[in-house]
Parts: sequence; C-alpha cells; structure tokens
Amino acid sequence: MNLQDGQQISACRLCGGHVRQVLDFGRQPVSNAFIRPEDLERETYFELTVGLCENCSMVQQLNEVARDRMFHHDYPYRSSLSSLMSKHFAQVAQQLVETELLDSDSFVVEIGSNDGILLSAVSEEGIRHLGVDPSRGAANVAAERGVRVMVDFFEENTARRIRAEHGPADVIFSANTTSHIAYLDSVLRGVELLLAPGGVFVVEDRYLADIIANNYFDQIYDEHFYLFSVRSVAALAARSGLELVDAERLPVHGGSIRYTIARPGTRPVRNAVPELIEEERAAGLADAATFRGFATNIDRVGNDLVTLLRELRAEGKSVLGYGATSKSATVTNYFDIGPELVPYVCDTTPEKHGRVSPGSHIPVRPAEAFQPYPDYALLFAWNHAEEIMAKERGFRESGGRWILYVPDVHIA
Ligand code: SAM
Ligand code: TMP
Ligand code: ZN
Repeated sequence: MNLQDGQQISACRLCGGHVRQVLDFGRQPVSNAFIRPEDLERETYFELTVGLCENCSMVQQLNEVARDRMFHHDYPYRSSLSSLMSKHFAQVAQQLVETELLDSDSFVVEIGSNDGILLSAVSEEGIRHLGVDPSRGAANVAAERGVRVMVDFFEENTARRIRAEHGPADVIFSANTTSHIAYLDSVLRGVELLLAPGGVFVVEDRYLADIIANNYFDQIYDEHFYLFSVRSVAALAARSGLELVDAERLPVHGGSIRYTIARPGTRPVRNAVPELIEEERAAGLADAATFRGFATNIDRVGNDLVTLLRELRAEGKSVLGYGATSKSATVTNYFDIGPELVPYVCDTTPEKHGRVSPGSHIPVRPAEAFQPYPDYALLFAWNHAEEIMAKERGFRESGGRWILYVPDVHIA
C-alpha cells in the first residue's frame, strides 16, 4: 500500500475539517454487485481510499459511490440468514420493548430494516413500528413477516414525512446501516426532528478499535463509508444537537458498539463514554501512524494468503471459498484472487447463486456444492465462523481444513 505521507485529499464529509488519506485499496467494484456472467461488461468500479478527519476523528472514504448503485430493489443481503444475528436482534427487540416502548402508543422507527430481522419481533408484540429501507426485495420479505416498511432512503425529508404521518418516535434504531450513509448529517437532522423529547436513537455498528486491533481490513468496502469510534460518534451527535449517552461493546461482526444517543440532559451519560474515548486516545485511533501500521499488516496478510493459495494449487490440493460476503470483495480484488485460486464460493443466499463475485468473478454456488468436500476452504464469512464450522462439522471430520486470514493467515 503506497501512500504519500500527509497527502491532503478533501474535507470531512461531516465537520468540514482537514482529512488525511490513510489507506488506499485502489480500484474496487460495488461489493454486493453479484453479477450474472453475461453482464460482466456492465460492471463498474470506484477508488477505495480511506481518510482520517484531523478535527472530529471520523474515519471515512474519500470517494462516494452513488447510493442507488449499492442499495436498490435487488440488493441481495438478507440479515436473517444468520441464526446468530437473528438471536441477537430478537434480544435487542425484547430489551427495547421492556425498557423503551412501554406505552400502548409507543412508536419505533428502524433505519435499514432489511428483511425484518429486528422489527418482526416488535410487530409480534403489536407495537407501532416502521422500517425504512430502499431494498424492495428485502422489504417484501419483511412484509411477509408482518413488518411495515417504507421503501425509501432515510434522510431529513423522509423523517419529516414520517413525523407528519405517524408523530414522533420513541426509539429510532439502526444497525449496520448508518455507517453506510455518506450524507449522515442529513440522517442526524432527520433523527433530531423525528425523535420524541425523551426518546433514544440507538445505533449498532462495527467498531474501528476492533477493526484495527484484529486486522479486520475486509470490513472496509464501499458500503462501509464511515468507520465509527466513540469519539467520532460523540462529536457527530453533539454537532447535531444531540448527546451520546452510552456506548456498549458487542461481540457481533467481529466487534461492534451499541451507541445510545438522546436529547442533551434527558439521560445520564454513562461512564463507558469517557472511558472508551480515553482508551481510543491511548490506542492512537486518531493518529495517522496507527493506520500506517494497519496498512503494513494488510499487505503482509495479502502476501501470505496468495503465497499459501499458490502453494496449495502447486501441490494439487483443492480449495473452495465459503461465504460470498460483501467483505470478500476487498480481499479478492485487493489481493487479486480469482477463480484460478478459488474456483467457486459456497453461500446460502439464493439471490447470489448462479452469479459471480464482483470484480474477481468467482462463481457463487449453494452450500450443497460444498460436497464432495475440498481439501481446504477459505472462510470469507469469518464473522460467522462458529455457526458455519458447526454446520459443516463433517468437513473437518473428513480431514478438511479451514483457511482464515484475520488477524493473520492461519489454518484451523
Ligand atoms: N439492519 C440490518 C442488519 O444489521 O443486519 C441490515 C443491514 S444491511 C448491511 C444495510 C441495510 O441498509 C440494507 O438493507 C440497505 O438497503 C439499507 N440502507 C442503505 N441506505 C439506507 C438509507 N439511507 N436509509 C435506510 N436504509 C438504508
Ligand atoms: P455478512 O458477513 O455480511 O453477514 O455475510 C455473510 C454471508 O455468508 C452471506 O452471504 C450469507 C453467508 N452465509 C452462509 O453461506 N452460511 C451461513 O451459515 C451463514 C451464517 C452465512
Ligand atoms: Zn470531521
């Protein structure tokens, strides 16, 4: 990864501060654009570069992919395919119902409701709710589960329409979505005008500290426009006339945080907020030098992984991919891994079958195509390792081995 130290690229998308480029993955495809083999010439790319705001410390991409190129009616990601995440969101729903949605008229809005993984449980309790998601395919699945969805992008105007039709929201929830929205300032203005006076905006997202500590570089792809830290989210909330009152670490997606944001002075600020901000300072999360170390680790993993895959090929061993994740776009395209090293990848998502992975053009096949077992399987869906390894127990029992590449390349 070659970067000119101190290169100035642009201004912070949120505070206008000076942004220093810290990572450069070069030309990358839209990560969820699994294409039909006959449509390859229609594929489009963008430059995946990451910067650090020297004012508010928000880590952000420097080139924005138009939102409707990523999120459209055929967006294939389906949250509920993971039983781990289904369990997680059922618990979150339960907690919200027990602590926040206490009134018979309580109202919850979810930004990025996808296939109804959270709101289906809320709907079962008969609570007023509205999901907002631009992906019609996912919204149709949610509707079948009794979830009411507005098929649209959440932004200031959407919030105004919701408020006019339904009144203020006691809870606005959003998981793994707000970091995807470059125009986050508009989202926060929308939250500010939609939130009830005593309401909460609860956001779950991957945590920059975990990404860097564990070398989870493949969490960086088009959709993850921002990489949140407690400091940068606290600054964002404050600039929007709101206050970050709690930050809880979560194990999901390799390490996330649940941020609770409220109107200033309405809730006590938990100690976790200043404590985590201090931990982030000690870990150098806002220092360009930390990202130089990260870039070195990423390139080392790339060399090790490609060397291993070439050696296995030379030895005549068979290798398949497991999990056609969005994350794998960065791995396969930055390290130049194509079907000659990984002939196909198995995945449970019907919408991805018969298609090829973006940029690297590795065919995607159903999980059943994992048998007869290969000698090795490259686990792109490492965040679901426990679930997948348990489900595919027979693979290891018959002598197969998993290849993982985070935090470094190893065989399990
Ligand atoms: N919340 C689910 C979860 O945690 O599994 C879904 C996460 S998925 C990665 C992101 C979702 O956000 C997609 O369903 C996408 O269509 C939706 N999305 C993207 N931009 C959005 C916006 N501006 N407003 C509402 N939803 C959006
Ligand atoms: P994610 O890392 O973005 O959650 O995507 C996980 C991908 O892995 C998704 O395409 C579905 C796939 N998957 C399987 O193929 N088998 C499984 O058991 C699980 C949990 C996920
Ligand atoms: Zn900034």
